[in-house]
Amino acid sequence: MEGFNVDAFKAFSDSWALVTAGTEGDFNTMTIGWGGLGTLWSRPAATVYVKKNRYTHGFMEKNDYFTVSFFPPAYKKALGYLGSHSGRDGDKVAASGLTPVYLDKAVTFAEASVTLLCRKMYTHTMDVAAVPADVAEAYYATEPPHTMFVGEVIEVIR
Ligand SMILES: Cc1cc2nc3c(=O)[nH]c(=O)nc-3n(C[C@H](O)[C@H](O)[C@H](O)COP(=O)(O)O)c2cc1C
Repeated sequence: MEGFNVDAFKAFSDSWALVTAGTEGDFNTMTIGWGGLGTLWSRPAATVYVKKNRYTHGFMEKNDYFTVSFFPPAYKKALGYLGSHSGRDGDKVAASGLTPVYLDKAVTFAEASVTLLCRKMYTHTMDVAAVPADVAEAYYATEPPHTMFVGEVIEVIR
């Protein structure tokens, strides 16, 4: 598999990414500012954190594959849009101006600079009781916890 060199501390938090699950005609995408890149069970891994109330969450649950896509800075406005509108309320992808690219098992976007095609290998919803108290207060006092989805990166698409 082709490598992927990036500053993992900045790739999500500064540049953002899209996580997308589903297939042609039945997919959803959303912006993420948190994520992880590394290794799990000796496999290349990408981790994303999707809150239970996101429309994307159901797509992550029911599909075996997802993509994590990174974009050139020019698309930050589109990512902002996809991170502040829900696919429940209409065709936000069309409104964002991004162009879906249908892969065999997943969906990405023509404008992405890099896409990680991931096979879901682990899903776990955070236990708020096990989260540090200040984090629980800041993030989960009124909002549901995040579910972590860890995918094996099976292809790096450029
Ligand atoms: C910069 C940015 C980063 C975000 N990061 C996350 C994240 O890591 N996890 C998450 O659950 N939501 C995150 N969101 C919020 C979702 O993208 C947002 O709620 C989106 O509208 C959900 O869309 P959906 O309902 O179509 O799934 C982020 C939003 C923005 C703008």
